[in-house]
Amino acid sequence: MSPELTRRPEWQALRQHFAEIGSLHLRDLFAADPARGERFTAEAAGLYLDYSRQRISADTLRLLGELAEACALPRHIAAMFRGDLINTTEHRAALHVALRAPAGEQIWVDGRDVVADVHTVLTRMEVFAEAVRSGSWLGYTGQPVRNIVSIGIGGSDLGPVMAYEALRAYSRHDLRLRFVSNVDGTDLAEALRDLDAAETLFIVCSKTFTTLETLSNAQVAREWCVAVLGSDAAVARHFVAVSADAERVAAFGIAPAQMFGLWDWVGGRYSMDSAIGLSTLLAIGPAAFRDMLAGMHAMDVHFRDTPLAHNLPVLMGLLAVWNNNFLDAASVAVLPYEQYLKRFPAYLQQLAMESNGKHVTVDGVRVDYATGPIYWGEPGTNGQHSFHQLIHQGTRIVPCDFIGFSQALNPLPVQHDLLIANMLAQGEALAFGRSADEVRAEGTPDELVAHRCCEGNRPSNTLLAARLTPWSLGTLIALYEHSVFVQGVIWDIDSFDQWGVELGKQLASTTFAELSAATLPALAHDSSTNTLIRRYRQLRDA
Ligand code: F6P
Repeated sequence: MSPELTRRPEWQALRQHFAEIGSLHLRDLFAADPARGERFTAEAAGLYLDYSRQRISADTLRLLGELAEACALPRHIAAMFRGDLINTTEHRAALHVALRAPAGEQIWVDGRDVVADVHTVLTRMEVFAEAVRSGSWLGYTGQPVRNIVSIGIGGSDLGPVMAYEALRAYSRHDLRLRFVSNVDGTDLAEALRDLDAAETLFIVCSKTFTTLETLSNAQVAREWCVAVLGSDAAVARHFVAVSADAERVAAFGIAPAQMFGLWDWVGGRYSMDSAIGLSTLLAIGPAAFRDMLAGMHAMDVHFRDTPLAHNLPVLMGLLAVWNNNFLDAASVAVLPYEQYLKRFPAYLQQLAMESNGKHVTVDGVRVDYATGPIYWGEPGTNGQHSFHQLIHQGTRIVPCDFIGFSQALNPLPVQHDLLIANMLAQGEALAFGRSADEVRAEGTPDELVAHRCCEGNRPSNTLLAARLTPWSLGTLIALYEHSVFVQGVIWDIDSFDQWGVELGKQLASTTFAELSAATLPALAHDSSTNTLIRRYRQLRDA
C-alpha cells in the first residue's frame, strides 16, 4: 500500500505547478508583481510575517490551500482543540492549548475539565514562586533561595532554558538559574561548583520521572545537598519536582506538597508552559508568566479561528511543506536577530524534529515523500560570519526563518538598527543575489567574477514584532508549535509520539551493564560495538 498523500490530485497539481514555476527566479517573481512584498504578508497577535521571498506565486498558495483542505486540516485543528486523541499511537490528546486557556474556559478529557486542573496547578506554582522570590521560602538552615538548579532533559529542559534566556531582561537578576540536562557529570559538576547548598533550590523536571539522565543527576544533587547540609531533612526544603507521576516522585523522596503536576496529554516538547516552566515563573514572576501564556493563547485563537489563507501557522506550515517536498530543501535555518533568542533554534530542533521526524503515516504505512526537515541555526549576526556562506553560495537550498524585533531591549547608540539592517540585508541578498553583470560592473577582474556571483533565489520568511516580551515570545512559540502540527497533518504522521528514541535507550541500558560490570561479560553485539566496548574498558581501567 502506498500512502495517500502523493496520490492525491491536489499533490499532483502541486507537482505539475512546480514543474511550471520551479525554475522561476525571485527576481522574476518580484519583477512580475512588484507589490508582492506588501501582499505576501500576514499578521496576527503582533507578529508580522513576510513570506514574499518564498519561491511561490498566488497559484502556489491556492494549491497549497487546496491540499490542506484535502488533508482535512480544519478538521484536524478542531480535533486538537477539542481534546480528541490525536496522538493515536499513544492514545492521547495533545492539548497544550489547554495549558494557556484562560480560567473559565472548559476542555473536557475523560470527564474532567482540564482547564480547571491547569489553573489549580498554576496557582500553586505562583504561590510557591512568590514565596521563593519574596524570600519567605527558607532553606534548611534558614537562608532564602538565591540559586535555582533545574534538572531535566529534552522537553523538560530545552523549553525552560530557551524561555529563561529569552526573558532574561524580565528576570530577577539576584536569582541565579542554572540548567542541568546532560548525564555527562561535567554538566552537574560545573553547575554546582560555586553554589552554596544552603541557598540552592533544585527543580527536578521529568514528566515520566523515569528518565535516566534526570534521575541520575537528581540523585547526585540530592546526595550533595544532604552531605553539605548534614541531614536528609534538608531535601524537603531544597527539592521540588515537576512530574505526571506522583508515586515515583514520592519514591525519590519529594513530598506530594512539593510536586507540581502535569498530565499525559501534555507532550514533553509542548510542555514549557506547564509546570515544567516553573523555572521560568520563578525567574520572571507570575504576572510576566501569565503574559507569556496570554501571548500563546492569542496565537492559539488565531490558529483555531482564522481562514487558512490568512492563518500564520498554516501559512508557515504549508510553505515548509512546499520547500521540503517540492524544492527538495532538507533543512531550515532559524536565524533570530535577537541575542536573547540564542537557544530558540535548539528548542525548535526538538519541537520540529522529534515531532515530524517520522517515516510512517499514522496508519503505519511507509511514506514515499520526505517528512520533517532538519532545523538548525544560530543568532544573527554571528551566523553571517560562519555558515551563511553556504546558504548564499552553496549547492543546497536552505530556507531561512529570520526573526527580529523593532525595539531593542538593551539599546546602544547604533547597534539595534545595525543588527536589523543585517537581517534585512541577508534576506535581500539571499533572494536577489548578485549577477555576473553586476559583479563585472563593480570592476571585478574576470577570473573572480564567478566566485563573487551570488545566484540568489534562496527562500526565506521574515518574522517581525515590536519587542521581545513574555507575550511576544508566547506568540512565537505557539506559532511554531502549530506550524509543526500543520506539517504533520499534511504528511499524515503522528507529530506527538517519539518512538524512535526508545531503541537507543534500550541498547544503552544493556551496554551500561557491560561497561560497568567488574569483569567483562560475554558480548553479543556486532563486531564494531563489541570492539569499542573492550577498547573503552581498557582505556578507562589502564
Ligand atoms: O527521550 C525523549 C523524551 O521522552 C522527550 O520526548 C522528553 O521531552 C524527554 O525525553 C524527557 O522526558 P521526561 O520529561 O519524562 O523526563
